[in-house]
Amino acid sequence: HTSELSLASLELGLHSHFMQKEIYEQPKAIADTAEIFLDGGFIAENFGDDAPAIFKTINSIKILACGTSYYAALTGKYWLESIAKIRCDVEIASEYRYRDVIADDKELVITISQSGETLDTMEALKYAVAQGHTHSLSICNVMESALPRSSSLAIYTRAGAEIGVASTKAFTTQLVILFGLAVTLGRVRGHVSEADLERYADDLRQLPGSIQHALNLEPQLGVWAQKFAAKPSALFLGRGIHYPIALEGALKLKELTYIHAEAYPAGELKHGPLALVDENMPVVVIAPNDSLLDKVKANMQEVGARGGELFVLTDLDSDFTDTEGVHVIRTPRHIGVLSPIVHTIAVQLLSYHVALVRGTDVDKPRNLAKSVTVE
Ligand code: G6P
Repeated sequence: HTSELSLASLELGLHSHFMQKEIYEQPKAIADTAEIFLDGGFIAENFGDDAPAIFKTINSIKILACGTSYYAALTGKYWLESIAKIRCDVEIASEYRYRDVIADDKELVITISQSGETLDTMEALKYAVAQGHTHSLSICNVMESALPRSSSLAIYTRAGAEIGVASTKAFTTQLVILFGLAVTLGRVRGHVSEADLERYADDLRQLPGSIQHALNLEPQLGVWAQKFAAKPSALFLGRGIHYPIALEGALKLKELTYIHAEAYPAGELKHGPLALVDENMPVVVIAPNDSLLDKVKANMQEVGARGGELFVLTDLDSDFTDTEGVHVIRTPRHIGVLSPIVHTIAVQLLSYHVALVRGTDVDKPRNLAKSVTVE
């Protein structure tokens, strides 16, 4: 296996793990994926030859996925509803496939999968079609994998091969596609003006640079990691479009470090999880300067009042200060609608560094597989 090993170290280059390499590949992976829309425009044809006709017919969306891809779907729902004004439901594939669903040939069934081979997602798609759904779109990273082959439409993330079991660049590029889909559908449905299109294209153009700035926060996240490593559990809070990023942050921490982690929409704190908060419970809050910031601040006070230690991921536009029990890391500015993608980088790096401190197997967490093709 010497040759395999040297091949691996060649691919790793200066990075210690595939996960770290893949985290650092995100500015490029995101730029490559954004190119689909920046070069070609926000046009239906990007999603397949039949997309122009299908996009005109549909009046709702159902997204099916598992794991990290499911959290991409949850994030995409916000863009699809706010930009394209189309109703969007998101469901865990393994749940959808075993319940009574209502057939709807005006509903576009979207599957999201890095591998394109996840059995539950594949079976959920087959089930949707068997129940009478005629239009499907697959968002995958692996070309010609099972899901795109079985869908009426397909579009690929340009993340390149992802080796680390815990998904990183596949997730953020899935988000780029979902954003591109929302803008495209918004245009087709007459909710996006020419000026909006320019603005959204600009947002995409600036994204790789903002991701690079987020990567520069690595040393600060490494300092935070020291404080997490000995904790038995952690709580992640977010609101609105940043709630799915809190979910992804908690999943990454579980997968990589085996620390129990949970995510809650910050407004739900008072309905249960607040009972868990004490000085031993680090609470990560994703709190960019968006319209919900004041609400999030109120939720943070609830944590502070119970002695919880707060770790705030925010941007320079908000006015948080480091105080006793409140640690703040800022991205350079609030970038607006694509902000969840930037904050993802921080939660990835945090989990990566906690794993390094704890000495867990970053690229191959125990009990997990990269692609789950069994039930
Ligand atoms: C496995 C992987 C996860 C991934 C999930 C869905 O559980 O460990 O990282 O998110 O499968 O995989 P998919 O290929 O469908 O995105």
